[in-house]
Amino acid sequence: MGKDNTLRDTDLASPQTLPGSATFLAEQVPISPVQSAPAHGYGRGKQQRRNTAGVPAAAIFSLRDGRARVCPARIGADGRRDFAMQLSFSIAAVVTGGASGLGAATARRLTAHGVKVALFDVQQELGEALAAEIGGVFCQVDVTSDSGVDAAFARSRAAIGQERILVNCAGVGGGAARTASRDRETGEIRHYPLANFERIIQVNLIGTYRCIAKSAAGMLTLTPFDDGERGAIVNTASVAAQDGQIGQAGYTASKAGIVGLTLVVARDLMDAGIRCNTILPGIFDTPLLARAPQRVKDSLAASVPFPKRLGQPDEYAALAELMITSGYMNGESVRLDGAIRMAPR
Ligand SMILES: NC(=O)c1ccc[n+]([C@@H]2O[C@H](COP(=O)([O-])OP(=O)(O)OC[C@H]3O[C@@H](n4cnc5c(N)ncnc54)[C@H](O)[C@@H]3O)[C@@H](O)[C@H]2O)c1
Repeated sequence: MGKDNTLRDTDLASPQTLPGSATFLAEQVPISPVQSAPAHGYGRGKQQRRNTAGVPAAAIFSLRDGRARVCPARIGADGRRDFAMQLSFSIAAVVTGGASGLGAATARRLTAHGVKVALFDVQQELGEALAAEIGGVFCQVDVTSDSGVDAAFARSRAAIGQERILVNCAGVGGGAARTASRDRETGEIRHYPLANFERIIQVNLIGTYRCIAKSAAGMLTLTPFDDGERGAIVNTASVAAQDGQIGQAGYTASKAGIVGLTLVVARDLMDAGIRCNTILPGIFDTPLLARAPQRVKDSLAASVPFPKRLGQPDEYAALAELMITSGYMNGESVRLDGAIRMAPR
């Protein structure tokens, strides 16, 4: 208990005693007989309670069985109420594309703060190995499958509880091809392979939105923190959303779509206290680039104004963490790119 009698995470149940269910955390607290609040916790102002000691403590929400559920007040270094999601063992997260690259770095970073992480990915071996390393859960799933994503959320929620955090990193490239062109040698006319276009949109754009919609629906069941916040969503677009290069119509459209939906989702979810932000990475050193020859990577690194190197996955994870924990950051898309602006080719 803090000096001001506000509850902190450390006042609450140990991880072992936490129920592995949709419940965030619960503590028996006697509450004074004030008007009842809805168990779903909407309408923050009416839910503030005093305990029997008259302490204006963390938000206390009545449950149907008459017990109370307490969300910890977040206390800043100066002792004042801190409006930011605090990462701790009491928070669960889902990271799509979490078996590799940017998603894996984010999963590691969240775990370092105690967050329980479920990895959604198609890559079973990598996913299971990382889940074992971080003490998380691996759910093999293709984000293009509606029933598969439903099953993955059901599995992760049963294992670690309803997620308050969703980080969408699952994504694919998709080969460069001009919209229409003539073969230099044969003169044959061809156009962009539309099956590729569709596949990229299915994975990158629809897959991202599917996970957002299903995760947000689950987050609605959560008790909000005392500032009304229920959860935070971070998506991954690309600088290609703004600087689309020759031959990248499918990839660029998929990533621009993610940027486009970011504000809409933030607005859609404003009454639920769920924030949504998007990162536009530049060129990052992940397995996505591993297949490229070293000279290509060197030339890509040299094209970054400063610092003249590829981005490191943990630098992406650090921004994802900031977006999750910065309570006022919402509906925003942020480039993380060393000031690179991609040339037409
Ligand atoms: N690395 C970069 O330079 C860079 C730049 C801009 C944007 N991005 C974006 O960042 C995200 C992460 O990329 P990365 O660099 O970490 O690549 P990565 O290949 O290391 O990771 C992507 C992960 O997504 C998974 N995945 C792909 N399709 C999936 C599907 N249908 N269902 C579930 N999982 C699927 C892959 O198995 C992989 O583990 C992608 O959306 C990518 O477009 C990366």
